[in-house]
Amino acid sequence: MMTYKAIETILNHRSIRKFKNQKLTVEQVETIIEAAQYASTSSYVMAYTIIGITDEKLKEELAAVSGQPYVKDNGHLFVFCGDLHRSEQLGTSEQQNAMQESLETSEQFIVATVDAALAAQNAATAAEDLGLGICFLGSLRNDINRVNELLQLPDKVIPLFGLAVGYPDHQPEQKPRLPLEVVYHQNFYQPFEKQLPLIQEFDENLKSYYAKRTSNKRVDTWTAQITRKFSNPIRLDVTPFLKMKNMNKK
Ligand SMILES: Cc1cc2nc3c(=O)[nH]c(=O)nc-3n(C[C@H](O)[C@H](O)[C@H](O)COP(=O)(O)O)c2cc1C
Repeated sequence: MMTYKAIETILNHRSIRKFKNQKLTVEQVETIIEAAQYASTSSYVMAYTIIGITDEKLKEELAAVSGQPYVKDNGHLFVFCGDLHRSEQLGTSEQQNAMQESLETSEQFIVATVDAALAAQNAATAAEDLGLGICFLGSLRNDINRVNELLQLPDKVIPLFGLAVGYPDHQPEQKPRLPLEVVYHQNFYQPFEKQLPLIQEFDENLKSYYAKRTSNKRVDTWTAQITRKFSNPIRLDVTPFLKMKNMNKK
């Protein structure tokens, strides 16, 4: 049977949170960025910027925001930003004024966020294809204003998440996913009642996965995790931050 390398890499994914003390080469970093650049991009806007963090002091400051050691201890750290600033700066001042209303809409905020996420997932898959491990880092939004300040982001550029890449120093078991029928519906949205028995079955499977896994054993289900998570609103400073950046305003 034919093997498909990209699919094999994707299906072998697990987040890596402990890296060897070995930096990526410039060539590895550039390969990862090129892969990111070839992601599809809404209307060819390329509404993202990736910031590579090579300054150790800055890495420490970002790790302090996230509270996660692998933000500092990795082979390379990227920060993915949604970026409408580049577009805003193009053309004459008249053209720039004409673009303002559009650039402040929720629609263009979605464009920037989706573009950055697609680029990032391409980067992640490329890194994994190179035999490296990755971990996305939404924890940088623990203090989005601080990250904004540290990275000197202009108006209409927002830090979305980090991506830590490096040589894996552990091999965690893969985390199971929801059954295919729960996330893939044919032709129209399947009522929650149809999903529920599958979710309950998944909860049982996940319970035994958590009980059996070699590190970080716990007693938990997906339902318990999600209801816990959304019962506790977090990062409420993100909404005013976006408005301050003149994004997602109308
Ligand atoms: C946008 C995004 C942000 C994330 N932020 C963090 C984070 O701050 N810290 C962390 O340890 N993992 C983070 N993760 C990793 C998820 O926890 C992980 O992907 C999920 O639990 C599934 O596990 P797996 O990637 O090992 O399959 C993030 C993932 C995504 C997509």
